[in-house]
Amino acid sequence: MTMANTTIGRAGRALAAAAALGLAGLSAAPAQAAGETVKPPAQSWSFSGPFGKYDAGQLQRGFKIYSEVCASCHALSLVAFRNLHEYGGPGFTEDQARAIAEDHKVQDGPNDAGEMFERPGRLSDRFPKPFPNENAARAANGGAYPPDFSLLAKARTYERGFPTFLFDIVTQYQEQGPDYIHALLTGYAEPKHGEKPPRPGLHYNTYFPGHWIAMAQPIQDGQVEYTDGTPATVDQYGKDIAAFMMWAAEPHMAARKGTGMVVLIFLLIFGALLYFTKRRVWSAVH
Ligand code: HEC
Repeated sequence: MTMANTTIGRAGRALAAAAALGLAGLSAAPAQAAGETVKPPAQSWSFSGPFGKYDAGQLQRGFKIYSEVCASCHALSLVAFRNLHEYGGPGFTEDQARAIAEDHKVQDGPNDAGEMFERPGRLSDRFPKPFPNENAARAANGGAYPPDFSLLAKARTYERGFPTFLFDIVTQYQEQGPDYIHALLTGYAEPKHGEKPPRPGLHYNTYFPGHWIAMAQPIQDGQVEYTDGTPATVDQYGKDIAAFMMWAAEPHMAARKGTGMVVLIFLLIFGALLYFTKRRVWSAVH
């Protein structure tokens, strides 16, 4: 019988197809009004699913983009230099992480004279912020605030709609943030119907909620040099920086997923032992 070897994936796809057919009428959204949000297309990520892991090479490329391009506006204030060489991360050696730290100027103090001073970073320091405070950041960016990257990949989320969210439970989908960041970086375009910005200094982006974003397209093809043969395109940059930001938001994902697996295996074995114990204990009762 074919049902016997139907995998969850196949059943899922069949269900999805049936649901799509049945709900075609229901889900046909009304014509998209200007300013409505467009859902970011899902990308494939090395860190998705229960066995997912970050790709260290990708995180290093994402870090390069952050340092060379985004760090002049966006802080990364919850990440410390020592995180760069921790398990499950970008895989820098301790010496490389220390060298990166020393390349940054960190504010310290007050010294004996009561003054703040700058010194080279240490492994225990967190990434210094590009602006001393939010007002300074806004003043430099036409009133808009470039959000801190530390948690951004987890802070951007949206409804994926029925029936997708049901399958998301099975596949443990949690990549809304990276999908959105990739879409945002590749989503700069001419306004669809020639709309004008509501105020000067805003840029049209297909995926930004409301479409008009204060950040000009931050990165162009070929802007950051890759030495590992990866294509230097905005599409690839978008994936790499999104992966890096996901790591920044959840640096211990590898450990979390590993623990989850061990717990599941333990429960399976424990469940089997309980089952046989139960059979043994009750075997005399007929
Ligand atoms: C010149 C300053 C500047 C640079 C450089 C810059 N950004 Fe931004 N970014 C901003 C500002 C300002 C905003 C806030 C935009 C708004 O709220 O309209 C922003 C917002 C964002 C957002 C949040 C969008 C949202 O949903 O709220 C993301 C993601 C982002 N930037 C990614 C990047 C990435 C990735 C880079 C590097 C490749 C980068 N930015 C480089 C200024 C900058």
